[in-house]
This record gives sequence, C-alpha cells and structure tokens, in this order.
Amino acid sequence: MKENIALIGFMGSGKTTVGRLLAKQLDMKFVDIDKIIASREKKSISDIFQEYGEQYFRQKEREIILEESIKNNVVISTGGGSVIDNENMKHLQNTCFIVFLDASVSCIYERVKNSKHRPLLQNIPNLEEHIEEMLQKRRFLYEFSANCKISVSLDSNLYDTVDLVKKAYINS
Ligand code: S3P
Repeated sequence: MKENIALIGFMGSGKTTVGRLLAKQLDMKFVDIDKIIASREKKSISDIFQEYGEQYFRQKEREIILEESIKNNVVISTGGGSVIDNENMKHLQNTCFIVFLDASVSCIYERVKNSKHRPLLQNIPNLEEHIEEMLQKRRFLYEFSANCKISVSLDSNLYDTVDLVKKAYINS
C-alpha cells in the first residue's frame, strides 16, 4: 500500500470535502495544494491568476505538489488542472494511491456555477458546455494517472464516496 492518497478530478468534483473527511477517518494529515499556494503567496488563487498569470500559478503548483508528495501519511487534494503537468503526476504516482473523483458534468456545474474563486470558470457565457469541453480534454489525463476511479453524481452521498475511496485504498 502506498503511504499517501492523492485526489484528482475536475473543479467541483469534491476533492477537498472528500479528502478532509477521508484524512480524518484514516488518521492522516489533510493537505490542499491550492490552500498552501494561496497561503504562501498571501493572495487568493484568483488574484494570483490575475496578477501573475496561469504560468506562474502552475509553477507554484508544481513546487508544492513535489514538496507535499514526499511527505508521509498525507491525503492530498490537488487542483483540477494539476494533471496537465506530467511531472506532477510522476511525483504523485511515486508516493500516492491516486483516486480520480469522476463527477458528472451536471454535478460539477451545480457545484461551481456560483463560485467566485475559480478563475478559469468566471464570465463564461455557456458554463455547462464549457465544463463539458474542458472535462473532455482532461478526462484522459485523469483516467490515465489514477489508480482508481470513483463516480460522483448529484445523488451521491458524501459518506458513501469517502467509504468507496477508503476501501479502494485499503485493498490496494
Ligand atoms: C484549476 C482548479 C482549481 C485551481 C485553479 C485551476 C484547474 O482547483 O487549482 O483555479 O485548472 O482546474 P479546484 O479543482 O480545487 O477548484
């Protein structure tokens, strides 16, 4: 069994909520990559994107993923775009059991439609269609990088999802 668990998946798939609960139940430490970036930079993710651009954010994301993945006994909630970078996935694959939270488009849409802190989803005329397109481009990366995939829909119960992740990890 790998030391750590990493949760990957699109924005709004529940990585942070599931990860926090999972860490508590397994007595592991919970880390949220975006939270660490924001706290180090003393700025919100939106402000980082706006002031320094996405490239800068991706660089910080890479640094923190490397730092956190080499720790022990952690549940890592990654940002939805971290799979774009091959190095990120290599680092996570070395030390983590990687779980793809595969949320449906309608579920993602409902969860992110009023979100103000996701710079890549602001001021998009047809948000649901945009999510579907982005997810289509990223789906392969999520599936390819993960050791296991858990489906999430609007009807999913949070505790059931956590249980499924936990069982998959324990049986790994
Ligand atoms: C991003 C997802 C966000 C955050 C940033 C970029 C992405 O994290 O890292 O806004 O490219 O999908 P969440 O998946 O936690 O929303």
